[in-house]
Order: sequence, then C-alpha cells, then structure tokens
Amino acid sequence: MAYSEKVIDHYENPRNVGSFDKNDPSVVTGMVGAPACGDVMKLQLRIDDNGIIEDAKFKTYGCGSAIASSSLVTEWVKGKTIEEAGAIKNTDIAEELALPPVKIHCSILAEDAIKAALEEYKTKQSK
Ligand code: FES
Ligand code: FES
Repeated sequence: MAYSEKVIDHYENPRNVGSFDKNDPSVVTGMVGAPACGDVMKLQLRIDDNGIIEDAKFKTYGCGSAIASSSLVTEWVKGKTIEEAGAIKNTDIAEELALPPVKIHCSILAEDAIKAALEEYKTKQSK
C-alpha cells in the first residue's frame, strides 16, 4: 500500500511524541483503541484556565496512518479552544493525509482520542 507523502513525513518525523505528567491537574488523557486492528492511541492535552489547549502529546502503538493522524492532531489542537478541538472531524484528518478507505478508521481513532480527552476535561470541570 502506498502512503501519501504527508503520512510518511508525520510517520518519520512524528510531532509531539511523549507524555505529560498525568498528575498535573491541567492535563487530560484520551486513550482509545481500534477494534478493527487492535491499535492503541494515547493523546494528552494540557488545557489552561480559559479552556485553551496549550500543548499536546501522543503515543500511538499502531500503523503509520494512525501515527500520522495523531501527530497531525497534536499540531492542530495547539492554541485551539476545547470547542474548536472538539469540532475536528476524522474526515478533515483523512483528507489532509490523503488516507485511502481502508485507513479511514486510523483517522477515526484520532478524532475519538480528542473526544475522550475532552470528555475527561468536562468531568474534571464538573467536580
Ligand atoms: Fe497493523 Fe494497524 S492494523 S498496525
Ligand atoms: Fe488500525 Fe491504522 S489504526 S490500521
């Protein structure tokens, strides 16, 4: 299968790989798995008091497209409000990376990871 140049770029030079201290109160974590292939993606966001995403990091155990999708979203979410980040669609990711149909679920994983992290944020806020 041929990967697009953007996928290869993110795969070979992934942005923002790593993790934050999960005990930091401003950090939330979204951990999701793809039932189709067993790949796992962990996305962490550091969100300031105004609901702005200051920083993002990821760790993905999965295929090149999943790594590229998570790398891309860490770049996209930085500086965004939680509302803006929550509006990122897997179709935006798939389009940007020119993912073929069999790799669409890899971009869904990235959208789900954002949603899962924001879900934790809302839970924390309501406490
Ligand atoms: Fe092999 Fe995702 S199916 S890495
Ligand atoms: Fe399953 Fe990419 S996340 S093949």
